[in-house]
Amino acid sequence: MKLLFASAECAPFFKTGGLGDVIGALPKELVKKDVEAAVVLPLHKSMPDKYRERLEHIASFSIDVGWRSQFCGVERLELDQVTYYFIDNLYYFNRDDLYGFYDDGERFAFFQLALIEMMEVIDYIPDIIHVHDFHTAMVPFLLKEKYHWVKAYQDIQTVLTIHNIEFQGRYHPEVLSDLFGVGDRKYQDGTIRFEDDINFLKSGIVYADKVNTVSHSYAREIQTSEFGNGLEGILRQERQKLSGIVNGIDYDMNDPETDPALKLPYSAADLTGKKACKKELQEIMGLPVKADVPIIAVVSRLTHQKGFHLVLEELENLLQYDVQFVLLGTGDPSLEHPFQLVSEWYPNKCAVNITFDVTLAQKIYAGADIFLMPSKFEPCGLSQLISMRYGTLPVIHEIGGLKDTVEPYNPIEKTGTGFGFSLFTPYYMMEALKKAVHVFQEEQDVWENLVQTAMVQDFSWELSSDKYHLLYKELL
Ligand code: GLC
Repeated sequence: MKLLFASAECAPFFKTGGLGDVIGALPKELVKKDVEAAVVLPLHKSMPDKYRERLEHIASFSIDVGWRSQFCGVERLELDQVTYYFIDNLYYFNRDDLYGFYDDGERFAFFQLALIEMMEVIDYIPDIIHVHDFHTAMVPFLLKEKYHWVKAYQDIQTVLTIHNIEFQGRYHPEVLSDLFGVGDRKYQDGTIRFEDDINFLKSGIVYADKVNTVSHSYAREIQTSEFGNGLEGILRQERQKLSGIVNGIDYDMNDPETDPALKLPYSAADLTGKKACKKELQEIMGLPVKADVPIIAVVSRLTHQKGFHLVLEELENLLQYDVQFVLLGTGDPSLEHPFQLVSEWYPNKCAVNITFDVTLAQKIYAGADIFLMPSKFEPCGLSQLISMRYGTLPVIHEIGGLKDTVEPYNPIEKTGTGFGFSLFTPYYMMEALKKAVHVFQEEQDVWENLVQTAMVQDFSWELSSDKYHLLYKELL
């Protein structure tokens, strides 16, 4: 089986979020199963030198983006038995950020045309192209409506994974002729139309042979108007090809027994090291070193998706309890500033770090007791999986992937791997937090049991990649 993954980001080269982690992990896991996997990416400016130095130039050709002819270089790199192809064009990709430019539509139109034409130029013809999110979601449409005459491409099957339905890639219909060089028939007949725009993600949903999202619950949720962002109707219509496969996490990089960022290693069988990690975290954060005070932690992008307005509403109330609150993340200034303000008012209880720091993140996963993730919606979520592996119990809004991966505490049986609330209000979030704090302080044996149960759950990519493997097999 020969696969080509197409994505806008990929760890360890460049990433802004979970999409990059998934693309960095899944192909690596699949090559262990008689699969040949390649990944095609834009060559973004932030590519680290240590990888850039290893790039091998293998082709250059030109791509027509509307009436302009644009240079397209292809660079290759092998890593962990996966081949990475990078589409090189300085004008489009040599920029300080991955996204957020006025011409993103044009940049990703170029990228998608380039990756399709690349396959024939370098003679890598996959059985399946697996595209991710709106940046590459036009590929199935282009294969059927623009490149259908290319013989080599006629048997290629397509899979679209939706990592977040909020971002759809909506553009004026003129981009069909101006950028993609195709007619507007499929816009006029409504197939790829959304209100008065063309919609990349909708096109992907309609044209891909299989569509999946990153959890079962999210696959269900996006078929409703509450979560579908306008695409619920088309998803319901196409539901026979829609499924949910929960993500894994990188078990080598997220292992409390070997993680170099930790003060001391530890495991479910011996939690002594976790206490040392907690002490170190309190020191780093300038909080009083107290073993018996629970640390509630947040490591996240600060965006409206993540539900932090609930936390801000209750934060001062929460700090009246005997707890410590630690936050690491950047994002929306309207969330950053109030968190900073509260930390100035309560320096002994609340420490806020508005930065992105991978090492500190690992120290928090290990050193904290409770991991707070009140997302409004969450396609899968990776942080709750990492925190469980480090024995830090998540408090979650029971939604999407959070619901599918965390088993809420059952006070009768005294079982679970975290704490949950189902109604998205500050009050219910506080109730779940209070429950967690109570068990931590009053029922230490139970707490330790929950910690150990959480740590031995299997959220490795091995399981999830098996499911993708099956999905691909259904297509061949
Ligand atoms: C997006 C989603 C997140 C998911 C990730 C990887 O970032 O918001 O829930 O885990 O994609 O699929």
